Amino acid sequence: MKDFSRAELELLFDTTDKLLEMKYREKVALGEGRILGIMFFEPSTRTRLSFESAMASIGGISVGFSETRTTSMEKGESLADTVRVVEANSDVLVLRHPMEGAARFAAEIATKPIISGGAGTEEHPTQAMLDLYTIVKEKKGLDGLNIGIVGDLRFGRTVYSLIYGLAKYDVKIYLVSPPGLKIRQEATHDIGLVPGKSKSVEVTENENLQDIMPELDVLYMTRIQKERFPDEQEYEKVHGSYFIDAEHVKKMKPDAIVMHPLPRVDEIRPDVDQMPQARYFRQMQYGRNVRAALLSLILNP
Ligand code: NCD
Repeated sequence: MKDFSRAELELLFDTTDKLLEMKYREKVALGEGRILGIMFFEPSTRTRLSFESAMASIGGISVGFSETRTTSMEKGESLADTVRVVEANSDVLVLRHPMEGAARFAAEIATKPIISGGAGTEEHPTQAMLDLYTIVKEKKGLDGLNIGIVGDLRFGRTVYSLIYGLAKYDVKIYLVSPPGLKIRQEATHDIGLVPGKSKSVEVTENENLQDIMPELDVLYMTRIQKERFPDEQEYEKVHGSYFIDAEHVKKMKPDAIVMHPLPRVDEIRPDVDQMPQARYFRQMQYGRNVRAALLSLILNP
C-alpha cells in the first residue's frame, strides 16, 4: 500500500465507478484474451473468488492453483520456479503466501506484474483498497472520520495495509486490541504513526472498545488470527477478547458503519447483520469491482 499515492488510489476508485457504468462490450474489451495467473498457497474464499470473478467481468480468464498439493512444489520445486511457470502462462499474477515478503520476492523474479493477495502477517493491499473504497462510498469520503480498528492488530495483515492507506488521508485512528496483540512497531515507524506525534493522522491506542464506540464513524473489526499464533495457549488467552452485538451497535452513531474483512468467527454476532450500520457484506461485494478496476488499469497502462 505504501507504493500507492492518494492520487493513484483515487484513480482506482474512479475507475471502479466507471466500470460499473460501462456497457458490457466496452468492459470485456479491457481484459479480452488476457490471463490472470493465480498462485494461492494459503486458504482463501473471498479473495480468490473475487479475483477470478473480477477478471471474468472484464473479459479475461484465470488459471492457476489454490492448494500446493496438486503442484510441483510437492516435488520440491521452489517458489521462484513456480512463479516462472505461472508467469509463462499468464499476463498478470496474484500471489497469496504464508510468508512475509513473499509477494515482494515474487515481484523481483517475475517480469509480469504481481499483485499481492496477502503475504503472511505483512500486508493485504487489495483488501485495503476495497476497504477504503467502501468507506468512500458509504461515508461519502474519508477525511475527518474517526476510525476504530479492533482485534488482532499484531497478526492481522489487513490492518497494516489499511493503516498505510488511511495514513494518506486526514483521519483519526483508534487502535483497540488486547495488550498482547498491539500493533507492531514497524507500522508506527514506517509511516510516522507514532501515537500523539503524527502529522495528518492522529492515533490512539485503547483497550476498552465500549468507551470509544460512540465516537466512531467507522468500526473495523478483525478476526484473531489463530493460525499465526506460535502457541495455542496464547491464542486461548485472547480469543473472544472483543465482540460486538446489536446492543453495542445501538450505542454507535446512527450513521456509523461496521466493517470486517471477513471471515468473522464470533467477533460480530449475527444479530448485527440486519442493523443499518452493518456494511461487511456490501464491503465484500465492492471487492470484485475494485479488483476488476485494478486489473483493468494494470492490463491497459
Ligand atoms: C483476510 C486475510 O486473509 O488476511 N481475509 C480476507 O482476505 N478477506 C482476513 C482474515 O483472514 O482474517
